[in-house]
Amino acid sequence: MDTSFDMFIETEVPENELIISRTNLSGVITYANETFARISGYDVDELVGKPHSVVRHPDMPKSVFKDLWDTLALGKNWQGVVKNRRSDNGYYWVHADISGVYKDGKLIEYKSLRSPVDRETKIKMQNHYDALRKTEEKNSRVVLYLTDEQLEAIAKVI
Ligand SMILES: Cc1cc2nc3c(=O)[nH]c(=O)nc-3n(C[C@H](O)[C@H](O)[C@H](O)COP(=O)(O)O)c2cc1C
Repeated sequence: MDTSFDMFIETEVPENELIISRTNLSGVITYANETFARISGYDVDELVGKPHSVVRHPDMPKSVFKDLWDTLALGKNWQGVVKNRRSDNGYYWVHADISGVYKDGKLIEYKSLRSPVDRETKIKMQNHYDALRKTEEKNSRVVLYLTDEQLEAIAKVI
């Protein structure tokens, strides 16, 4: 079996700040706040004009985003736990709340507010998404959580 091993650094989303973005109706970013830029590792200028999938993480199953867009198409809010990829290939977890922006009763954009996710939920959702991806994709990536002792052992040899 061909195996490779990588370590990625998680960026924690601060409790007292919100990551905010807006997109046009096709998911292209029209606004990003400073917190979004800092946490994702991009500049605000780099984010605006890019599809929101710029922060898509390969661990996220396709079906989650299908559900997101299907829900928005029905005019409803979508809430979910999302793992995003940083510009340096690290990652950050958010609880996302995505909804329509209306002007004179007409849907003009979508907006997303995001807040932190606790460690237990991250592990639960990682396992859930790993299982979902297995059913959706031929090649599966596996994510392992290490104990402190295992991490220390690895740290000694690298
Ligand atoms: C307001 C809004 C915010 C979104 N935020 C994210 C996000 O943080 N991360 C992400 O991967 N996709 C996000 N999406 C979904 C993306 O538009 C896209 O569907 C997803 O990244 C999957 O990429 P793909 O459609 O190219 O497969 C968001 C969509 C909207 C409308």
